[in-house]
Order: sequence, then C-alpha cells, then structure tokens
Amino acid sequence: MRFIGNKENLVEWIYSEIQNNDIKGKRFFDFFAGTSNVGRYFKTKGYEIVSSDLLYFSYVLQKAYIENNKQPKFETLLKNIKVQSKTLFASELDLVFEYLNILKGIEGFIYQNYTPEGTKELEQPRMYFIGENGKKIDAIRQQIENWKEESLITDNEYFILLAGLIESVPFYSNILGVYAAFKKDWDPRATKQFELKPINLITGDKKHNSHNQNSMELLDKYEFDIIYLDPPYNQRQYAPNYHLLETVAKYDNPQIKGISGMRDYKKQKSNFCNADKALIELEKILQSKNYNHILLSYNNEGIMPQEKIIKLMKNFGNLNLVEYDYLRFKSNNNGQAKNKKFIKEQLYILTKK
Ligand SMILES: C[S@@+](CC[C@H](N)C(=O)[O-])C[C@H]1O[C@@H](n2cnc3c(N)ncnc32)[C@H](O)[C@@H]1O
Repeated sequence: MRFIGNKENLVEWIYSEIQNNDIKGKRFFDFFAGTSNVGRYFKTKGYEIVSSDLLYFSYVLQKAYIENNKQPKFETLLKNIKVQSKTLFASELDLVFEYLNILKGIEGFIYQNYTPEGTKELEQPRMYFIGENGKKIDAIRQQIENWKEESLITDNEYFILLAGLIESVPFYSNILGVYAAFKKDWDPRATKQFELKPINLITGDKKHNSHNQNSMELLDKYEFDIIYLDPPYNQRQYAPNYHLLETVAKYDNPQIKGISGMRDYKKQKSNFCNADKALIELEKILQSKNYNHILLSYNNEGIMPQEKIIKLMKNFGNLNLVEYDYLRFKSNNNGQAKNKKFIKEQLYILTKK
C-alpha cells in the first residue's frame, strides 16, 4: 500500500541488524503500525507481535494480517449465498471476493460525498472516485456490515474482508498519494472498474494482539523484548492525509467539511509530529520498565535532531546507530516531476543498561 513511511522495503535490513547486534527475544511491539508491514514480516519470522496505531484502518489491517492466524473458511456465509467460481482452485476467500465484486452499486456515503455525480451541487465537485466505483465501494462496504450484523461471518472474517477493501481502494483513488486532495483530472488508475484484489494472509499459532489506540498507553500492559519505533518524521499528521480510508473502514457517516470532505481528527493527532513533544514522548518510552531493546527508525530529515536523540537514548543503555542509503522517489510540490533522492534511513539500536 502507498503509505508515507511504509517500511516494506526496509524490513529485511532491520531484521539483519537485529541479527548483527545479537538481539534475542521474540516479543515484539510494532508501536507505530501503519500498514502493519513490519509486524507482518516479524510474524513470519516467528515473533509474537503486539501492534497499535491511532488510525482505525490500520487496526483493520493489523486484525487481518497480525492477529488473525487462519485462512477464513466462511462456513456460515457460504451456506447462505450463491457463488460460482470462475477459477478452478479458488479459496473460500476468493469465492467471497468474487461474490462482492459483482454486487450492484449503491448510492451510499462514498458515492454521495466523494464522486463528481454525488457532489455536483458543490462549487468544486469532489473527484476522488468515478461514480461507478463510488457505488461499488458502498455496495461492498454495506454488504460486509450486513453480513456481520446477521452473524453470517465471524469477527476475523469481517476484518479480513474489510482489509481486502482497504487494500483495494488506493488502486482506484484519484489522488497523488494522499487523500488531503484529489486530482482535478482523471488519473487512468481511477477510471478502471473497481474490484477487490486478492490479499495474502499469514497463518501461524502464536498469539498476537492488535490495538487502535495511543501506543503510549500499552507500554505498561505487556512485556517486550523489542519495541520498534517508526514515528512520523515531520509535522504532517497522518489522519487528514488518509481520511477517506478511515471513513471506508469505519463507515460511520461522519460530519465532513472542506473541499476534500475531511472528517474530524482531533482525537487522532500525534505528539510525534512536533519536535519538542516528540522528544518528551520518546523519553517516556525509554523510561518504561517493560523492554530490553528499543529500535528507532528515523531519517536524516526528521524533526527530532540527531544529536538530541543520541544524547537522550545514551542515558538508558548502549546505543548503536546504523544507516542505510535509501533511494526515494519524491514528487515536487505540484506533484509533477519525480526527483530521485537518497535519504539516509537510520536505525538507533538501544540495549537497556
Ligand atoms: C511512519 S508511520 C509508520 C509506518 C509503518 N511502520 C509501516 O511500515 O507502514 C507512523 C504511524 O504512526 C501512527 N501514530 C502516530 N502517533 C501514534 C501514537 N502515539 N500511537 C499510535 N500510533 C501513532 C500514525 O498514525 C502512522 O500510521
């Protein structure tokens, strides 16, 4: 998924540094879960994961990929709906996705607020989705909710279906990467017919715990071998940039406002988007009793200055700072040309005294 700070391409490196630094123990806290990619990777490596994020759509992904350990069978649902598979070896999840993909569209909240047809009375009609896709998203989202209310699916199955929807929506969104604004002409990706994309779940037998709350509140609730920190690097809050994924996930008919139809996000503001507050929060994490190692991902453009991070962390144990030149593609301000840019990804590795 396109998500600012997504560590999908860096997890192997992080894991190799854990080996290089001889860090033992399998209880892993993915403190800033986002896409859940870090937790997913460490789950496949046999770790027991605790994960959390302020965003609800992140929680949906965590529930499906981290906490859930099984391929869903949809036993009750498949007895109640008619599905004919196009593919020979379709899994139960494929069958349910196929059923959802051919639902007739509904003019629901997404259509009414985020497509040009649904918002034509606005001075600037919103162009996040073409009308047909807005209706499709509404139909799928409502069907998943109805199945849950009718007890035709389990909680796990509910979150897996929602995760499929959340993963698919960005492929049809008419944006430059985040949802703070929509494009004023149609990106070819947005005009394709919406369909749910297959997702890959991770099976296993360890217990994992996912949360949708400020991770600071979880520090005293578990014991960790490793706390992995991947905070926001700058002042930009995440919630407004991903407001539409949040609304698809919650589907709670929120009050929205402004050109982009933003939902309120007062309760989802992160202290890590402010340099001074971020350092105070970091100190609180370092002071907590229940960990052996802290791994902090940051980069040389972050709002917390490197010398302050080093000074602070050194008070709590042995610190090793490793760096990795990472090629990032960056859009310029109007989103046109893409500049290649090397960013120094940093990993601060602390072993407690
Ligand atoms: C840099 S992103 C993490 C990216 C993630 N590692 C990945 O690979 O997708 C930072 C995340 O931290 C979340 N966040 C910020 N402050 C938080 C807090 N106090 N508690 C929980 N989550 C927080 C944001 O919502 C955002 O999803």
